[in-house]
Amino acid sequence: MINVTKTFLPDFNEYVQTIKRAWDKAHLTNNGELVQELEKELKQYLGVKHLWFTGNGTIVLQMALKALGHKTGEVITTPFSYVATTNAILWEGFTPIFVDINDKDFCIDADKIEAAITENTIAILATHVYGNPCDIEKIEAIAKRHNIKVIYDAAHAFGASYKGKQMLSYGDISTCSFHATKVFHTVEGGCIITNDDALSQTLVLYRQFGHIGDDYYSVGINGKNSEFHAAMGICNFPHLNTIIEARKTASATYDKALAGCAIYRPVALPETDYNYAYYPVVFKDETTLLNVRALLAKNDIFTRRYFYPSLNLLPFFNNPNQCPVSEDISKRVLSLPLSAEITTEEVTTICRLVKSII
Ligand SMILES: Cc1ncc(COP(=O)(O)O)c(C=O)c1O
Repeated sequence: MINVTKTFLPDFNEYVQTIKRAWDKAHLTNNGELVQELEKELKQYLGVKHLWFTGNGTIVLQMALKALGHKTGEVITTPFSYVATTNAILWEGFTPIFVDINDKDFCIDADKIEAAITENTIAILATHVYGNPCDIEKIEAIAKRHNIKVIYDAAHAFGASYKGKQMLSYGDISTCSFHATKVFHTVEGGCIITNDDALSQTLVLYRQFGHIGDDYYSVGINGKNSEFHAAMGICNFPHLNTIIEARKTASATYDKALAGCAIYRPVALPETDYNYAYYPVVFKDETTLLNVRALLAKNDIFTRRYFYPSLNLLPFFNNPNQCPVSEDISKRVLSLPLSAEITTEEVTTICRLVKSII
């Protein structure tokens, strides 16, 4: 069986040795030594001022939105992302305003953002789709002009950089997921990043129920993560470059085998140093996608419709915004299997099956 991804695992004994440090002290959570060590390491790597390790990449979106200090308001966002991006906006009681994506890198179309801004807009929440950067400069300029904040859902972007800076260092706040399906993972986990001291103070309080000891400062939630999860991050982190290189090699094999076929692929902005987080392919129509998917499944090869549906069409809320580009691409895009361990033979088999349909 070939799954859409395969979780990278470090050496088992190394993991046991690492958790032993927490085990021996019976200190398993609540900002322990391993959590602090991982945070320090990630901060250094990313070149950011504040980074807080959290339970997942969804709670950080909620914390980021809440930290802006509004009770109601509109959040300009992308319809082409994982549902967590939209859910966080709805969960926090804000109104998502969907702005369509561009058909090159599938990120929010920065040229369409300004027309969607109203007096109720509180923020832009955009996703670096598949690890491809949004048009960061344009978005920053718009946000400055209108005095609104930018939050990047950078769940896919760990290890990717843009213009020589880690992608997670951009925006007023960036969030990431360290879920087991990601390039870098801590089983479950995530982080929230900002270079703003005041925002950081708010966020770290939110993460721990809003209090420090007996002093209660604000509303809060349980956004923490455990020593066992931090240990996985500590063990995985030294392998990051090897993981990315292996994924790059597999992606190059796909590129070569699928060259000349009736498909297209998102293209990142120049000056992107990509992390090879996914291998999405856009087919000519949905029928072709469904046929490819079925044939691969028959051969025990599992793909993912990522992202589908376009989030402006989610069935559980009434949304007036139309996003023709996102609606079209989401029907035709399929993520093919990619991991650090996928072999050339496996990629070749997948491509042969894909080509037999298209
Ligand atoms: C773009 C995006 N945002 C948010 C999330 C949520 O992350 P988590 O699963 O860690 O809560 C994901 C997870 O896949 C994602 O892809």
